[in-house]
Amino acid sequence: MNYGQSFSNVTKVMKSSLIRELVASTKNIPGLISFAGGFPAPATFPKELLAKLYQEVVSTQGSEVLQYGASSGDSQLIKELIKWEGFDLDPSEVLVTIGSTNAIYNYTRSLINPGDVILVEAPTFLGSLVVFDALQAEIQSIPIDNDGLDLNQLESTVKKLRAAGKNIKFLYTIPDFHNPGGVSMSLQRRRELIAYADRENLAILEDNPYGRLRFEGEHLPTLYRVMKEEFPGTNVVSETVTFSKILGAGMRMAFIKSDKEMISKMESWQQKINVTPDCVSQRVTARFLAEGHMEGHLKMISAYYKPFLDQMLKSLETHMPAEVKWTKPQGGIFLWMELPERMNADEIFHQAAAKKVSFIPGSKFYPEGQEKFNTLRLNFSYSSLEQIEEGIKRLGELLKAL
Ligand SMILES: Cc1ncc(COP(=O)(O)O)c(C=O)c1O
Repeated sequence: MNYGQSFSNVTKVMKSSLIRELVASTKNIPGLISFAGGFPAPATFPKELLAKLYQEVVSTQGSEVLQYGASSGDSQLIKELIKWEGFDLDPSEVLVTIGSTNAIYNYTRSLINPGDVILVEAPTFLGSLVVFDALQAEIQSIPIDNDGLDLNQLESTVKKLRAAGKNIKFLYTIPDFHNPGGVSMSLQRRRELIAYADRENLAILEDNPYGRLRFEGEHLPTLYRVMKEEFPGTNVVSETVTFSKILGAGMRMAFIKSDKEMISKMESWQQKINVTPDCVSQRVTARFLAEGHMEGHLKMISAYYKPFLDQMLKSLETHMPAEVKWTKPQGGIFLWMELPERMNADEIFHQAAAKKVSFIPGSKFYPEGQEKFNTLRLNFSYSSLEQIEEGIKRLGELLKAL
């Protein structure tokens, strides 16, 4: 049997993960310092506490949690999630999902017919681009600046696309500690965006993996919270939150808040495809929240990461040539670098690998045909402080030479 001939059309053209390929291509270089991946630091996983909770949950509630569970998610967890969010939410506005990737898939699956348009930020999270592509959406990107999405460009793009008869289904945005952009959307812009989206009937999918990983500065309310608190008449925003960078990506725990009708459709997809999220991990997460561990844990993670961000910013200041610019995030795990226009980070990637340092070329974070090649992403959550200094020094020397 040659399965290759039988693959569906979308499977035939499906791309492999460019980031995984890039990371794999440098895996065997001895002494390589990598700023390429997006992994959280294993030191931030609450291992002992989780071990205790998994043990307790399975031994005391095993008959229930080892059984099939509700496809909308564990009601105990949903109750705790609503308390954690701290504002008025009905359980029917929440769906537990298998990572945010699944929330993004269920949301997109519920709305997109082939050829419908999804607006994304330029740059944006590659994992979501892959989902949108697989579901045959047309993807149109809108630039971001230091305050997040450029609303003027958004307005003109929406006008242009609608005038051309395009069906824009939603805008996908990462307002907090953008991956890969490192920037956060200002509060003023959050308000303006919701008012605009409400006026224009434009749904917004807010992806929020990093909002609670703020190391300094003032906490900003999510778009979803701003909508709930300041725009009571509208339901345009949905927000997905993952525990991947908080508890452990391997638990695959996340949830999405949305309009009730949307939740019900997304739940139907979840029921058909996944049956239910992992019932054991859901109850463990519920216990973690109910026993009050989250606040202290988040403080620990922020305190843990801050020196790594500070070190990266300091090393960049010391070693980068004057023509190079970078974002200065107050949280999250990435920052974004812009090189002079004439430089191409796809090419520099290979030269950097020869100097034993790696990053992800920025072009991977744009829809096909809309790339900017003079950009790159740096991760600061995985290397040691010494490696950050040495790796940025190597990269700075290479860029100076170029
Ligand atoms: C912006 C963004 N969205 C979604 C995800 C995926 O999260 P999950 O592990 O919950 O699927 C990530 C993970 O890196 C991310 O950075």
